[in-house]
Amino acid sequence: MPRDAVPQPVRLSDYRPPDWLVDTVHLDVRLHPTATRILARLALRPNPEGREGSPIVLDGDELSLKSLTLDGTPLAGNAYVATASALTVLAPPQRALTLEIETVVDPSANTKLMGLYRSSGAYCTQCEAEGFRRITYFPDRPDVLAVYTVRIEAEREEAPVLLANGNPVESGPVEGTSRHYAVWHDPWPKPSYLFALVGGRLERIVEEFVTASGRKVELGIYVEPGKAGRAGYAMDALRRSLRWDEEAFGREYDLDVFNIVAVADFNMGAMENKGLNVFNDKYVLASPETATDADYANIEAIIAHEYFHNWTGNRITCRDWFQLCLKEGLTVFRDQEFSSDQRSRAVKRIADVRLLKSHQFPEDAGPLAHPVRPDTYREINNFYTATVYEKGAEVVRMLKTLLGEDGFRSGMDLYFERHDGDAATVEDFLACFAAAAGTDLSQFALWYAQSGTPQLTVSGHWDASARSFRLDVEQTLAPTPGQDEKRPMVIPLALGLVGPDGRDMPLLLDDGTNAGRGVLTITQPRQSFVFRDVEHRPVPSLNRGFSAPVKLVSGLTTEDLVFLARHDADPFNRFDAGQSIALAHLVEATAAHRAGHPLPAPDALVAALGATLGDASLDPAFVAQALSLPSESDVAREIGGDVDPDAIHAARLALRRALGEALAPALEEAYARHALAGPYSPDAASAGRRALRNAGLDLLAATGSAEGVARALAHFERADNMTDRFHALSVLAHNAPLAREAALSAFYERFRDDPLVVDKWLALQAQIAEPGTLERVRALAAHPTFSWGNPNRVRSLIGSFASINQTQFHRADGAGHDFVAEAVLELDGRNPQVAARLLAAFKSWRALEPVRRSSAERALRRVAAREGLSPDVADIVSRSLD
Ligand code: PHE
Ligand code: ZN
Repeated sequence: MPRDAVPQPVRLSDYRPPDWLVDTVHLDVRLHPTATRILARLALRPNPEGREGSPIVLDGDELSLKSLTLDGTPLAGNAYVATASALTVLAPPQRALTLEIETVVDPSANTKLMGLYRSSGAYCTQCEAEGFRRITYFPDRPDVLAVYTVRIEAEREEAPVLLANGNPVESGPVEGTSRHYAVWHDPWPKPSYLFALVGGRLERIVEEFVTASGRKVELGIYVEPGKAGRAGYAMDALRRSLRWDEEAFGREYDLDVFNIVAVADFNMGAMENKGLNVFNDKYVLASPETATDADYANIEAIIAHEYFHNWTGNRITCRDWFQLCLKEGLTVFRDQEFSSDQRSRAVKRIADVRLLKSHQFPEDAGPLAHPVRPDTYREINNFYTATVYEKGAEVVRMLKTLLGEDGFRSGMDLYFERHDGDAATVEDFLACFAAAAGTDLSQFALWYAQSGTPQLTVSGHWDASARSFRLDVEQTLAPTPGQDEKRPMVIPLALGLVGPDGRDMPLLLDDGTNAGRGVLTITQPRQSFVFRDVEHRPVPSLNRGFSAPVKLVSGLTTEDLVFLARHDADPFNRFDAGQSIALAHLVEATAAHRAGHPLPAPDALVAALGATLGDASLDPAFVAQALSLPSESDVAREIGGDVDPDAIHAARLALRRALGEALAPALEEAYARHALAGPYSPDAASAGRRALRNAGLDLLAATGSAEGVARALAHFERADNMTDRFHALSVLAHNAPLAREAALSAFYERFRDDPLVVDKWLALQAQIAEPGTLERVRALAAHPTFSWGNPNRVRSLIGSFASINQTQFHRADGAGHDFVAEAVLELDGRNPQVAARLLAAFKSWRALEPVRRSSAERALRRVAAREGLSPDVADIVSRSLD
């Protein structure tokens, strides 16, 4: 690695309060495509908690200073130092004072999409985490909260819509010019990362919302001209989100307007800027013809997520970036609860745990593992991770499980009461729950500090004569980067003892207490629990609802799992039992394939899934989840080391074929029974029926039978919505090489002018598990619809290839690794954040078999050797190789 490529680490233990505070910010922004002028007036004062007599040090990033005054007087050249990355006022008077800073930036040249940039001609900003410093010099840290007033001026022609945070104050023409202006004021003090402005030619839909206390709020969604017809679902989700936060958490909205702007070029999913959320348009725009059921569900969840940040993130923000999970984990938990209330709680939980296991578990098991609250970072952009978000949400969920519904709600109420207006820490958050519930959470706090997935090994012993059942539980946590020694965690283990009739038996511990709400609290390395009055040998159903984010080793037999898959009263565990059978089968079949042995027959899985398919009382969405097998990377994770992706693929394909053959009559029957009549509706019940039909379509086509392929083709041709059309296309692409190309071109011709649909088309092709795919991806990267400048295009084509297509990314000849490494280097000069995320696809490289492992290492070393890497990529590559 070239020296100095990786920036110096920032440490949590080095936190110091800011030396100077900012009370108010007045921004005057004159929008111009290549030379936007920003005049910032900052009212500063020394922080009584800071170091006395300090200079004023303001952050900058690629800035150049045009002018500077202190209390209206230009500063002498020797009174300050201005560089691209900092502005220091050397010996300021130690009192309240005003700085006026003029900078000029070029939004059209801003390819990093951080700070002020342009998307489809519109101006927009992205400031989290450290983007405000690309607009003006500022103490760009989340514990400096100020009240902002923003005046924006632009050519009326170019930007008829001018938006910023807060409430509109005034607007009008700039007399004698073709320009106009708007002034916005945000009364709520906020950190700079929540600043936003937008200017452009945008179309709007608008609705009125009345809050629980009777305040009127104008809800607006702005999109590119011609797309307003596709914003209706997002508006509906927004209205439901406002209502839900009032009902579930007692939180009302606090401004006169709430605006959302959808842009086509965005590094992430969306951003919670106060009163002015900016979204990746893929999470706003939906119509039955262009969006799938999954897109609708994502829109609902992300609209809710960003809205919920208004309280968890904005009204209470983070003291420093180490506390990122304080807003993100909590807000993910809140959006998960929202979706659970809007849809099926069981199916939502299954989907969330699938995501956690597929994204977070591998992160926690590899070189990029870090605690939910990291204690050091070199590039904060690289910590918007599955660990901070999804595991962070699991930690909040465990808190709720441990404290119960009421204890949790009192803790949240206290958090809002105590910390409204604060820049808070994880300790502040936990202290509210400890106080509200009167418990000590110091051991629980280890969930924030220790990385890695704990393993829980459980064995059960039934004593027929004593009519008792003993559970022996052992927890272990393997070393992770920087953490050799681990301490035991607090693990809420929800469980049931299922009797021979399939019903839960009472949970009476031998000390006479009952296991409160069916949850055992594990705190020791080893613990035993004895249940009494257990009349029959039970099958323990453990970690119900995935009550703790652990790897469970249960020692249950296949028969036990088949039994649970049929009878478990806990829907998550009922699902999980089937997945465990499938996973064990796939691991065994993969080994058999590598050894050149015949593959085992999946009899137990056929029995379990046959029963699930035959149970008419089950929610179709649940059955669809049960039918969807663990992914290739799920199997790789279970195998853990010496992974051969080709063998996994072969085993999984053989299993899909065997299931398609063995379950054909039941799958065909379900496919026919769940056909929907009438116009498309994205509601959960309809989506569940489509999901079940489409799962059937896939397994039936996997057999390769002419009938299976014909059914998929007919499904494709008759589809009247994107869910069915795209799913059928994907079935054809993966299972019917002969029918594939015609279907792909028909799809492209129909949707070529719709970038979000073209993204699906790119992503699908990148996932085909065939040697020709790399060439196809190279060709698509040269296709006119592709652009390295648009993060959605890059993620669809290159990101899907690297993170989903296990056989082709990890080709034995190393060409897949080389291709992705080249793509990372190509992108790094333009958009380091997106490049770094792409590179993180290598995170499980050490688990590969030796040939592929060394090709991955070679590719990583090539990246590392490049001069002038961004801090983002340098950080990921150096940790990956550590
Ligand atoms: N804070 C955003 C969210 O989770 C994510 C984000 C981070 C967006 C950084 C842009 C930049 O809601
Ligand atoms: Zn968030």
